[in-house]
Formats: sequence, C-alpha cells, structure tokens
Amino acid sequence: MTDLIWLNGEIKPLSDARLGVEDRGFQFADGVYEVIRIYNGRLFALPEHLDRLERSCGGIMMKMLIDRQRLAREIEQFIAKTGVKEGMIYLQITRGDSPRNHAFPQCPQTTLFYARPLPPTAPAGGQSGVKLYSVPDERWKRCWIKSVALLPNVLAKNTALAAGADEAVFVDDGVATECSSSNLFVVRQGALLTTPVGAKVLPGITRLVVLALAKELGIPATERPISEAEAISADELFITSTTREIGWVASWNGKPVSPGRCGAITLKLHKALQERIRRETQSPQR
Ligand SMILES: Cc1ncc(COP(=O)(O)O)c(C=O)c1O
Repeated sequence: MTDLIWLNGEIKPLSDARLGVEDRGFQFADGVYEVIRIYNGRLFALPEHLDRLERSCGGIMMKMLIDRQRLAREIEQFIAKTGVKEGMIYLQITRGDSPRNHAFPQCPQTTLFYARPLPPTAPAGGQSGVKLYSVPDERWKRCWIKSVALLPNVLAKNTALAAGADEAVFVDDGVATECSSSNLFVVRQGALLTTPVGAKVLPGITRLVVLALAKELGIPATERPISEAEAISADELFITSTTREIGWVASWNGKPVSPGRCGAITLKLHKALQERIRRETQSPQR
C-alpha cells in the first residue's frame, strides 16, 4: 500500500490524486516541504521536522493552517496504513489553488504527504565515499526556508553528476555553504566545523542531531563559515541528510581527500547517530 497519498485530509491511491493547474506550488513554487525518515515504521525526529515546517511556513508569510498535533497524528496513522517500515515521508504545503495572481489568495492550502520505501542504511562506515563537486552558489538568501523552489539545487546536482561526482557543494564567495541536498561538516584537529545556518544554509535536522551528539561525545564543534580551501584540506569531511544519515567524503572535484576512508570522528558520530535512531524508533511506542 505504498502507492497511497494523503491529500487535504483524504487518503487515496497516488495515481488518483489530482491538483489544479493553478496550484501555486506548480506556478510560483509557492510552498514548503519536509522529508522525514521512517525507521521500523516510526518517524525519526518528527517534532524537529514540524518545528522547521512551521518556521518555513512563516518564512514564506503563510500561516500553517493544519493543526500541528493533527498533522503528526495523521502522518503516523498514514504510515501504519501504508505498511512502510523503512522509508521516508515527503510532505508539502502550498498556498493553494487560485486564479493566477502574484498577490496572496484567500483559498485553502494544499497539504499532501506520501511515503516512499528506502533500503535500510548501511552500518556506519560501510558506505562508499561521497564524491563532491563545487558549483557557484547562485541561490537566494533565504536558504533556511525549506522551499519547493529547488531548481538551483537540481541544476547543481546535475552539474555534479555530469562531472562524475555524487553531490554538489555550493561555494559562495569562497565559502563552502552546504550541498544540493545535504549539509557539510569538516573535521580539523579533532574538532567539527560547519557553516552556520541562515541565508545560505538550511537548518538540516541531521545536522542538528549531529551537533547535539558531538556535544554529548565531547567533540568540540564550531559554527563559522568554512572556506572551500580549508574544507578540501580538512582531516575528515562528511555530509548529512535525512535520507543519507552521514556520508563520508572520498573526493572533491575529482581529487581524493583525507583520510581516504571513513575517518575516526565521522565513524564515531555516525555510530552515535545510528544508536540514537535505534533508541528512538525501536523502543515501545508511547
Ligand atoms: C539544501 C539542503 N541542505 C541540507 C539538507 C539536509 O537536511 P536534513 O538533515 O533535514 O535532511 C537538505 C535536505 O534535503 C537540503 O535540501
């Protein structure tokens, strides 16, 4: 039953779902989204995702009309119905369907979500290394909003793929900000560094959890702009995202980066992340 969708309160087959041609998500990219990971049929870090969703709605001057508690309940019930145990929820809210006009309309929002199965993630350190590729950061200055306007990210990702890499790193005036769909961390002299969230960096939920885990593990972490040059010459590099967890970086612009395998601190953090996920999603349901 993974081909179901929850659309404005109704559950139906994904292939039966219809959106109006004038939905503002379609015509203006006037909407926001979330990707939430499902492990063992349970949502990981749901409150953090809903916090960010509310902030993203505020960022596009849109009040989230669906009640947060109801949304959480509906997603949980939906997952049980789909039977997806390992996967993700894609959730999107747009300003709705109304005759095309730049001015905000008075119409109901379009809220939808559906589940997609994903293969279980490999144990920490067991994945192959990620190949990064630099692209100029030509995005807007509100990257903290998880907006559906992802064309610059799509173009960046495909530029990286065309260059034989896996993921694009945005470089803004010499600063490595983040990647097309992940955050970037470097390790230098035993300490973590990552560019601060805000104009050019999405507040990634995995990033947030990794920073909390670093604190618990006594690994010093600093949030400040990282130059591309210092990132490339770091002791370890990794990227984070909901679907990927932690991915150690093997190369940048076609050149191998240190240490040529999953580094010790990256491994420690990934193990801690998988342990946190296990604790929060395998325990008996509240
Ligand atoms: C631009 C960008 N940065 C970072 C991330 C990682 O965020 P999260 O850890 O919440 O998945 C994503 C995820 O899609 C993203 O699109």
